[in-house]
Amino acid sequence: MNLLANLNEPQLAAVTLPNQSALILAGAGSGKTRVLTTRIAWLIQTGQVSPQGVLAVTFTNKAAKEMMTRLSAMLPINTRGMWIGTFHGLCNRMLRAHYRDAGLPSTFQILDQADQLGAIKRLLKANNIDDERYPPRNLQMFINNAKEAGLRANAVEVNDDYNRKFVELYAQYDAQCNREGVVDFAELLLRCYELLDRNEILREHYQKRFRHVLVDEFQDTNRLQYAWLKQLAGSDNAIFAVGDDDQCVVGGTEVTMSDGTVKLVEQIRVGNMVKSCVGGGKMGSSRVWRVHYRTEQTQVVTIRTQKGRTLTTTPEHVHFAGYAVGHMPARFFLYMMMKPGVGYRLAVSGHRRARHSKYLPP
Ligand SMILES: Nc1ncnc2c1ncn2[C@@H]1O[C@H](COP(=O)(O)OP(=O)(O)OP(=O)(O)O)[C@@H](O)[C@H]1O
Ligand SMILES: [Mg+2]
Repeated sequence: MNLLANLNEPQLAAVTLPNQSALILAGAGSGKTRVLTTRIAWLIQTGQVSPQGVLAVTFTNKAAKEMMTRLSAMLPINTRGMWIGTFHGLCNRMLRAHYRDAGLPSTFQILDQADQLGAIKRLLKANNIDDERYPPRNLQMFINNAKEAGLRANAVEVNDDYNRKFVELYAQYDAQCNREGVVDFAELLLRCYELLDRNEILREHYQKRFRHVLVDEFQDTNRLQYAWLKQLAGSDNAIFAVGDDDQCVVGGTEVTMSDGTVKLVEQIRVGNMVKSCVGGGKMGSSRVWRVHYRTEQTQVVTIRTQKGRTLTTTPEHVHFAGYAVGHMPARFFLYMMMKPGVGYRLAVSGHRRARHSKYLPP
């Protein structure tokens, strides 16, 4: 079967890139997932990798299934044993295979969001914690944010007493999960990351195995997921990532640098250190590792606050605002959302929903 027959020119170029890491950016519905799937088939068909040497991460289980179905249609191979799945699915598989090294019972259970909230409520009750002052949902979010930033309780920065209590409860929650042999969604990833981080033999085993690591919806990967991908890729393997780059900031947008100074976004260069959200309501320093410029005539939205500050943004993207540099952690963020055909709304992340927010016409 000619895998490449129905591809358009940029798709063909992406699918047949040489064996090296690549980031493919393209708009919604432009065929990114198709490119990723066809790339896997092409790599296998041309003998560049065996089906066992591929690790592909998709966003949903449904997308993973679809990818396997498409692959089976393209190639006479059995896709069942292939490592194609979500971050959670793949980490779960790795932890099941190495449960002892990961410090888990062989039968560990996974907590979904509702189970996790139940476990947190139980913990608060058992410790006589005032759940009005420490709402279970906030604690859940705090724990998940910290885990997604790769931080265990002992690594979370403590700024005040309120925050300290959250950290303490996070540690107790983890202890409870360990006692009960259960693992929440964020834990699947963190536990797997830690396993590979401290176990060099295992890490090298998987690095030797997964010569090609492919990632769909790359723009949505968080810090921990990215770190996990880097672990698997090592220094020799190729990461092929596809994503939607229609998530840009408008020229002239001010960016706060790590040292507190401000630059316009177009002045940002690779290697600069900028302030960025690092999860858990905290700001950290991040190094810029790529810059992309694009000239585009598009509709923008400008918000002017009563104090006279303005924020200009593209309608496709939500922008965070409302944090004060130096006054961290921020417990919530203000952002803008848009519903096509309905309009714009300013909203607040987390539990502090804006009471009187409503959609404004475009
Ligand atoms: N060259 C092509 N010829 C025919 N159909 C195509 C081609 N490229 C993509 N398509 C079809 O367009 C649709 C969107 O493709 P795909 O899901 O790969 O896009 P995507 O960029 O991943 O989308 P999203 O932004 O939703 O993730 C699919 O039905 C796919 O089969
Ligand atoms: Mg897609």
